Amino acid sequence: MFMGKRAATGGFAPDGIDEKEWHVLEAQLEATIPNYDRVNRWMTFGQDKRWRRNVRNHAMAGMKVLEVGCGPGSFAEDLVGLDVTCLDPSPEMLATAQRRVEAARASRNEPPAQYVEAIAESIPLPDDSFDMVFCLFSFRDFQDKARGLEEIFRVLKPGGQLIICDAGKANWLHGFFGYLWMNSVVQLMARIITKEKNHPWKGLAKSYTHYGTNGYYRKMLKAVGFQDVQGRLLWPLGMASRFRGRKPESLARDAPR
Ligand SMILES: C[S@@+](CC[C@H](N)C(=O)[O-])C[C@H]1O[C@@H](n2cnc3c(N)ncnc32)[C@H](O)[C@@H]1O
Repeated sequence: MFMGKRAATGGFAPDGIDEKEWHVLEAQLEATIPNYDRVNRWMTFGQDKRWRRNVRNHAMAGMKVLEVGCGPGSFAEDLVGLDVTCLDPSPEMLATAQRRVEAARASRNEPPAQYVEAIAESIPLPDDSFDMVFCLFSFRDFQDKARGLEEIFRVLKPGGQLIICDAGKANWLHGFFGYLWMNSVVQLMARIITKEKNHPWKGLAKSYTHYGTNGYYRKMLKAVGFQDVQGRLLWPLGMASRFRGRKPESLARDAPR
């Protein structure tokens, strides 16, 4: 029945994306690289900078942090005074991130970050190794969201925190307005900025259309085992949501996850 639901939505569902469709989405994401920051700035009225700062401010100096789905490095380049690992499945995204992040870190006399080519659903890093994990505008693209959250939970240290920031969808009515925005104004802006009729944002709107609500993902975070789970819109415009969850200090042996 579930497969039927995904098939009816072109391979997309709130809990994940079929593998074939995910590869199409990845190719579209890679095609955004030259215009990624510019289109984001316009389509969010410059709020994306504010959201990134909001998320970044959760980290404390010296922390060991992981960004899952680092993309071209738009967030990671501004992580100051931290031991940073950037993870992304796209070699092209990682190479762009590495160039940007290393230029920024060198200008601050900081040691290089680490770069890992992988998907969130299978993180090739040890258990209990990060104080904080960030996901900015990448959670929406996971193939299997619960599996990705389980892997993030595994690599977090006990007491460590996950912060997700992604497109806002408080409920289905709010989602409907978001859908209209993504399919009209964003398309026009992307067309003007890229000067291309067939720009990659044409396909990217689909990942928002089939993305779940805040309540849906709060439930998922709790089911994975996160504590102190919060997930709400970021104001003033309510275009993004921020989720927070903490890995418990001590895990009850054999507790259901
Ligand atoms: C829109 S970009 C986000 C870039 C960046 N984090 C930012 O702050 O703007 C989404 C990124 O998520 C990555 N991604 C897609 N599926 C993923 C998955 N299953 N696991 C980890 N990253 C994924 C994509 O390759 C892409 O680079």
